[in-house]
Amino acid sequence: MSEQTLTIIKPDAVAAGNAGKILAHLEGEGFRILGLKRLHLSRDQARAFYEVHRERPFYDSLVEFMTSGPVMAAALERDDAVAGLRRVMGATNPEEADEGTIRALYASSIEKNSIHGSLSPENAALELAFFFSRAELIGA
Ligand code: CMP
Repeated sequence: MSEQTLTIIKPDAVAAGNAGKILAHLEGEGFRILGLKRLHLSRDQARAFYEVHRERPFYDSLVEFMTSGPVMAAALERDDAVAGLRRVMGATNPEEADEGTIRALYASSIEKNSIHGSLSPENAALELAFFFSRAELIGA
């Protein structure tokens, strides 16, 4: 069934000039780009987005990294988009990511791992609403 999910092309991939290649990779996997924004997250925005990881030892470093340069947030649509995106991204740690996945191709570490994808359909709804208004995604 057609589903929406949220991806963020992270500062490492944008800085390396890989944003276009990653978007093309996603389109090649059947994702339709419904919305696309380039933005430089503030500390408060990054802290709020990763609120679920607040107690993790990597939280401060993650916020630092995610505010280190511009990102591209994209709303994606496809059948089975949430699980499909996670397969196409590969494991969080690029050393464990399957060959040909986005993280195997573009990530340099478990933190600087080039791309974020929503964890579940419920999480996708929250994350899409963080970056896009409902009106922006209707009839896109
Ligand atoms: P993401 O899928 O965006 O979700 C949380 C992010 O935290 C993750 O990708 C990585 O960028 C980062 N992360 C997860 N685990 C670790 C870790 N063990 N050390 C440092 N960063 C991590």
